Amino acid sequence: MTGDWMNDDLDRYADYESAFEARQPRKRKPNHKPKLDRAAQIGAVAEVGAMESGFNTTYKPGLFEEGWLLNSLKPFQDMGLLADVLGRVKGGKEANVYRCEASEMAGGGLLAAKVYRPQMFRTMKNDHVYREGRNILNSGGAALKKTDHREMRAIGKKTAYGQEVMHTSWLMHEFQTLKRLHEAGADVPRPIASAANGILMSFVGDERLSAPTLGELRLDEDEAQAAFETVERNLRLMLDLGIIHGDLSPYNLLYWEEQVILIDFPQVISVEGNPNARDLLRRDVKRLADYFSACGVDTDTDRLFASLWPDEE
Ligand SMILES: Nc1ncnc2c1ncn2[C@@H]1O[C@H](COP(=O)(O)OP(=O)(O)OP(=O)(O)O)[C@@H](O)[C@H]1O
Ligand SMILES: [Mg+2]
Repeated sequence: MTGDWMNDDLDRYADYESAFEARQPRKRKPNHKPKLDRAAQIGAVAEVGAMESGFNTTYKPGLFEEGWLLNSLKPFQDMGLLADVLGRVKGGKEANVYRCEASEMAGGGLLAAKVYRPQMFRTMKNDHVYREGRNILNSGGAALKKTDHREMRAIGKKTAYGQEVMHTSWLMHEFQTLKRLHEAGADVPRPIASAANGILMSFVGDERLSAPTLGELRLDEDEAQAAFETVERNLRLMLDLGIIHGDLSPYNLLYWEEQVILIDFPQVISVEGNPNARDLLRRDVKRLADYFSACGVDTDTDRLFASLWPDEE
């Protein structure tokens, strides 16, 4: 395959903070009455967001985060699931993940909240590569129908509403996939709830540490062998359900107490409906085989791929 998109999509999300930073200050006119500067304006918006959300948290979000974060998590608090936000685990390309405290009603303990970045900065290149053959999901997780004219038209015209519909669809694909995989016995976080801009799931880690990804670790041979077998089992399980992760690499595998947990599913691919499925699986397999063979596991891309996709000539 030619596949320029293969490289493109690695940095497919614009970072919204750098988008703010990239803006150059305008030249001031003489006698110009000072207005609130950009940061103060955003701060003001953030404060309104926080006050409106009425959600006080141990974690003190930054200027660019606050309104967005608290409004995104408010639905989970309203559902009675969330007691507190304790800290930010990591800012990924498309989302931030926060360590949260579950409410007593939800059984206490830690939860992970994945909060997607503001939609205005989500510019996923080549998203059609992933979307082919899969439904557009609404916030209830149901597939949009051809007769949903308003949504279909908005998507076609790429209006703000259309983008919002697509944003919800990515998020719901992640949540639905976690549900299906968890029910099928896969090694994924337990999904708990979804809302307009985030999902809540079990936290992998403890009060002090979040689980590292395999990309940050070099396992010894025995650990690597066991981890590889888990990953292989999960790849097969996904294929049995007709899906491919589509962005699998050591950076989307958490490692905690010698267990591997697969994460990050918004781009999940339908095997049946997507003509790119084979190539995307091969890319996933290559990244995994490269990593595990470097740790001393007896595997390589061709062999692993052929065992998963047996019709390969
Ligand atoms: N359930 C969880 N428990 C603990 N940490 C988590 C959990 N889910 C995600 N994380 C952490 O948050 C990071 C980002 O999560 P995820 O990969 O789902 O988002 P992302 O924005 O797609 O990231 P990237 O684009 O960098 O792959 C992960 O690398 C991991 O460190
Ligand atoms: Mg990730």
